[in-house]
Amino acid sequence: MLMDWVKVAERDSIKKDSGIECDVGGIKIAVFNQDGLHAIESTCAHQEGSIAPGVLKDGVIECPLHFWHYDIKTGKLLDYLKDIKLKTFRVEQRDDGIYVEA
Ligand code: FES
Repeated sequence: MLMDWVKVAERDSIKKDSGIECDVGGIKIAVFNQDGLHAIESTCAHQEGSIAPGVLKDGVIECPLHFWHYDIKTGKLLDYLKDIKLKTFRVEQRDDGIYVEA
């Protein structure tokens, strides 16, 4: 599959310690701003809730629906079934905005 860099937000528009959800070619991606920018699949592996608006603390996002936890750098689920991992994407802040490769 061909990957491409897509602008998903304006530069500096994601507040520190929070995230946004964007749609890149039909893939829902969460971009978080905590210790840099991190982009992972936004669809929770439990019941497909969006993890983007969850509580973000110490590099861990908590799904707002039933509180599963994911590492925002690796996408790895941190509780329950340990082999679940949300896909990660490269993300960059450029002069004209925030870009995700998907
Ligand atoms: S949908 Fe995320 S924990 Fe249930």
